[in-house]
Amino acid sequence: MNVLIIGGGGREHALAWKLAQSAGLNTLYCTPGNAGIANVATLAALDAGDHPAVIGFCTTNQISLVVVGPEVPLVAGLVDALENAGIAAFGPSPKAARLEGSKTFTKELCARHNIPTAAFQHFNNAPKAKMYARQQDLPIVIKADGLAAGKGVIIAETTNDALNAIDDCFEGEFGEAGTEIIIEEFLTGEEASMFFLCDGQNALPLGTAQDHKRVGEGDCGPNTGGMGAYSPAPVMDDAVIQKTINQIINPTLRGMSEMGAPFKGVLYAGLMIEDGQPKLIEYNVRFGDPECQVLMMRLKSDLLPLLIAACEGNLADMSIEWRKDAALTVVLAANGYPGTYQKGSVIEGTDSLDSKFVQVFHAGTAIDNGKLIATGGRVLNVTALGKNVVEAQRRAYAAVDQINWPEGFCRRDIGWRAVARGAK
Ligand code: AMP
Ligand code: GLY
Repeated sequence: MNVLIIGGGGREHALAWKLAQSAGLNTLYCTPGNAGIANVATLAALDAGDHPAVIGFCTTNQISLVVVGPEVPLVAGLVDALENAGIAAFGPSPKAARLEGSKTFTKELCARHNIPTAAFQHFNNAPKAKMYARQQDLPIVIKADGLAAGKGVIIAETTNDALNAIDDCFEGEFGEAGTEIIIEEFLTGEEASMFFLCDGQNALPLGTAQDHKRVGEGDCGPNTGGMGAYSPAPVMDDAVIQKTINQIINPTLRGMSEMGAPFKGVLYAGLMIEDGQPKLIEYNVRFGDPECQVLMMRLKSDLLPLLIAACEGNLADMSIEWRKDAALTVVLAANGYPGTYQKGSVIEGTDSLDSKFVQVFHAGTAIDNGKLIATGGRVLNVTALGKNVVEAQRRAYAAVDQINWPEGFCRRDIGWRAVARGAK
């Protein structure tokens, strides 16, 4: 079958790399893709927001399945548009994508179904929000309700910071996303994520991971899209995984189904674990980036039949095989990221790095005059397998050290929590 992937980041390169190995695949397309994806798929120039154009491309190229990577086209309803045109699409409907698109929607679902999460209040004006914030313990968390590209969360250490954050939201700092906000309790513990393949009724665990959101070593500096990740996350032991499934994921799927918005696609639970108890921080309705890269390295099963089963409601009959290895990915980003950065610098030394244990997944890259150039903030994901996180980390950094890109940087401590635990 022919498959189209929507997206052009490291996540989509990892999905493309894995799907390209599928027995059932005929031609793989990707839009917009990047220089790495071009090695495993045919790139197409399409505007994912132009649904008729995507449908037209699918019809012309006999696409039987569209895999939507990022949240924006999901929330904008691309999956419904494709399905209405008779084209199978992997990902949630826009109604189900509200789990990521509206924090209030998710918090209210949690409240209705007793899903463990931080205590919260919802506000649509600054004075009431400020009155509430003044009465709360510190730190306190202020969140824009809608999609804010990972930037709509402020952890305020002082009441003054909280009041300023509330003003910023209502004064348009996060655009439409901030016209409603939630204020929630600050959770302590260790953060991890868990991914599930969902078909509306069933959830098949896709593994656990830990991201490194801050730009600087030791988890300092501003938040980014993610500077590196590893899988599995040791804090997610069997007991925590069972609690996550029973107390968080199953009630969510039931609740969504009861609302007439059954969830299909990847449900990504951002969790805080304290004393063996997981609490939901937030949902995303897609694979994480860079978490997808480590999951795809560990996945032994063919991905394509799993995605098709999720679309068709047949996951109850499926199982997934995983490698025993751990995987770790290091993000190389352009100097200046997540602030302003230059585009167009030349990257050398990536050509001969891929091996049985190492894959370099591309994010913001292109080929210019035969040379690999950086075109984005996050640019490469150097990903490695190992018998544990320590070995995967060693292999990943050995590969990073072969890359010659003076205009880029990476964190040198990806995996530190697992390493500190003795990384079994
Ligand atoms: P999000 O954009 O919702 O993923 O939030 C960004 C980050 O803020 C999360 O990964 C957490 O590290 C942190 N965060 C969000 N909500 C809370 C909370 N209630 N308590 C503590 N940390 C939080
Ligand atoms: N790595 C975090 C995310 O994909 O949202």
